[in-house]
Amino acid sequence: MKKNLLRFAAAAAAMALISCSNDNSVTSPDGRIRTSVSIGDGGVPALQIDVDGKTLISASELGLEADGLNLASGFAVTGVTRDRRDETWTQPWGENKVIRDRHEEMAVTMRNSEGVTFVLRVRAFDDGVGFRYEYDTPADSLRLTDEHTTFRFAQDGLSWSIDGNYDTYELPYREQPVSAVERANTPFTFRVGDRYGSIHEAALYDYPEMHLLRQDSLAFKAELAPLPDGVKARLAGSFTTPWRTLQIADRAVGLINSSLILNLNEPSKIADTSWIRPQKYVGVWWGMHLGTQVWTMGPRHGATTENAIRHIDFAAANDIQGVLFEGWNRGWENWGGNQQFDYVEPYADFDLERIARYAAEKGVELWMHNETGGNIPDYEAHMEQAMQRYAELGIHTLKTGYAGGFKGGYSHHSQYGVQHYQRVVELAAKYHIMLDVHEPIKETGIRRTWPNMMTREGARGMEWNAWSEGNSAEYLCTLPFVRLLSGPMDYTPGIFDIYYDRAKADPGRIQWNGDNTHCSIKTTLARQIANWVIIYSPLQMAADLIENYEGHPAFRFFRDFDADCDWSEALQGEIGDYIVVARRAGERFFLGAGTNAEARTLEQPLGFLKPGVTYTARIYADDPSSTLRTAYRIEERRVTAADSLRIEMAPAGGCAVTFEPVQE
Ligand code: NOJ
Ligand code: CA
Repeated sequence: MKKNLLRFAAAAAAMALISCSNDNSVTSPDGRIRTSVSIGDGGVPALQIDVDGKTLISASELGLEADGLNLASGFAVTGVTRDRRDETWTQPWGENKVIRDRHEEMAVTMRNSEGVTFVLRVRAFDDGVGFRYEYDTPADSLRLTDEHTTFRFAQDGLSWSIDGNYDTYELPYREQPVSAVERANTPFTFRVGDRYGSIHEAALYDYPEMHLLRQDSLAFKAELAPLPDGVKARLAGSFTTPWRTLQIADRAVGLINSSLILNLNEPSKIADTSWIRPQKYVGVWWGMHLGTQVWTMGPRHGATTENAIRHIDFAAANDIQGVLFEGWNRGWENWGGNQQFDYVEPYADFDLERIARYAAEKGVELWMHNETGGNIPDYEAHMEQAMQRYAELGIHTLKTGYAGGFKGGYSHHSQYGVQHYQRVVELAAKYHIMLDVHEPIKETGIRRTWPNMMTREGARGMEWNAWSEGNSAEYLCTLPFVRLLSGPMDYTPGIFDIYYDRAKADPGRIQWNGDNTHCSIKTTLARQIANWVIIYSPLQMAADLIENYEGHPAFRFFRDFDADCDWSEALQGEIGDYIVVARRAGERFFLGAGTNAEARTLEQPLGFLKPGVTYTARIYADDPSSTLRTAYRIEERRVTAADSLRIEMAPAGGCAVTFEPVQE
């Protein structure tokens, strides 16, 4: 009631301020994207985005709502400051190690009739816009109850998104008119006219995640994941919200090539990053999802000493840096029950010390796995002791998981969740541990600031193929334009046993997560290989059982692949239809292409290769003479940057290529 009265009084007082309405704008360095901030009726701030002189986002409401404090209306602009930047920065790993940050900045200070002041900071890049609220007050703390930020599309278009859910991102994509979307999580990707765009957020700390909730046919308001009592965030008197971002591109692949999200994050807080290294890995993992192994101790236990040694030997022999064992620690009996895991004590049949020693002798990195089941209080009570132990054992990589509801009515994506995930990142940095987070909070570019935050799941990964209808080729052609815009994903690609022949031959196969008898991989084998290039992750898994790789000619691709790339470019693609990506690591290049359910032939100029160098192109392609998804062919050819590659793909197919300079 008090809040409403305050807002009413503010609105009345604001009437006097309307005549002072300002129109302040900032334009991208290339002059194409113009963002204007104005004050509308009732002193409500608004933001508009025009591209090439045409409105993309019409004047849309801004503001926040807090108990006892009006941060939404009665405002007038009291000052505008401007800044600009054009600098190049480097990161220890990433799609591109060298990134240019070129933007124009405008900071608009607003004050309302109650004396409340905030700054709206806007950054205009050639590839989009970021804006955030900065609030500074003498008050000790405040309870944020809503955010009014709205994106009002000037015209309808087509969109790709997952539904809004505060606990999971493992949802199918929906392709629907913008006007038909009720609620969506971000990245929210769209095509309006001949323009592509994606709404997301950058630098999400100590604040809930943002969804988009439809207000009227073309307007979407920021909806924040609530705490159990309905409050959205408990904040200190001074706070800065995450950036609200809009990436804009002329071509769909332009969104993938944008560095906007990283540019809106702060430089690394980790001074010595020498221990942070991209790697390929294998592990005891797929067997559990297929139902031929289990996480708990017993005859089907996957993480045994013997199995561990076998995996370490395989990794050492195949130029793979890491090995992961799920189910190594006690407590898996409690998964789905009281969610109490032991993060230090191994099962009796997993000789952790011996395995760590053996891995070190073989030059292979041993990974740890912490499934928390969502039991945050228990994990927080034990994680430091666990990380200390891993550091003692020489372990530098940890996969975490949150498969289970949080206790106390908290959701994964609330401020509580965001704070927890961040505590883990910072603690891991202290112990020189790289993270791969499953059931995570969405990536918002914090990997720039915390480069030990390597990769995360946060979408339907490979596991869904083991026990559900699976991920279609169309899904895989949508992923790069939606989820992957936010950052790396541990999809765990590369299954070769497409029809699960080995699992089907096992009479004791378990149905641990629903009927798995009709499950299979929904793409061709060549597409499975291509996904290692398409789905960027600095920790990239060869996810199949190692016995399916042993002696397989196509496994050479993974042996040759380098997860530590220097440069990347998405070359061509349309959302949900097809995609071609190239990466360079040192002197070698890798290319991955994929199509949806339709067979497709693409011409791909190789102009990205170094001019004047001849390369051996080793091409892993679909075999057009067979309809089996396992059918593939490997071909070798000499090429230069002046050549073009004809990529022929079967339905749900793909193509992967390694380019190695010819030594003459
Ligand atoms: C879900 C994760 O995504 C998967 O990779 C893991 O194997 C299971 N949880 C068990 O932790
Ligand atoms: Ca998962």
